[in-house]
Amino acid sequence: MTETARLIIARGTAEAPGQHESFDVPFQPGQSVLDGLRWIRVNKDPTLAFRFSCISANACKECMMRIDDKVVYACLARLETREMMLAPLANKPLVRDLVTEIGPPAERL
Ligand code: FES
Repeated sequence: MTETARLIIARGTAEAPGQHESFDVPFQPGQSVLDGLRWIRVNKDPTLAFRFSCISANACKECMMRIDDKVVYACLARLETREMMLAPLANKPLVRDLVTEIGPPAERL
C-alpha cells in the first residue's frame, strides 16, 4: 500500500478567497511540498496556481508560502504523511490560490 500526504490548499482569488481543497498525494521519502504541488497540477488539477523557478536552489524565493501557518519555501519543506495546510503569504496581495504579488511595486510592469 502506498503512503499518502494530504495537502489542504487554500484556493481562490482576491475577489473570492477563503475556499479550501484537499488532495491526497502519493508519498515518497525525500519529496518536497513543491514536488507534491507539481504532482497535483500534472495529475489532478492543472488550474492549481503556485509559483516556483529554481527548485531547491533557494535562489528565487518564488515558492514562499505558509505551511501549517509558518512561512517556508515549498521547495525546501519536506512532504509528510499527514495533513498539511497550505496557504498564500498573509502579508501580500493574493493573486490566485497560493500565488501572491511578491515583486516590489516599482518592478511590476
Ligand atoms: S523554487 Fe526557488 S526557492 Fe523554492
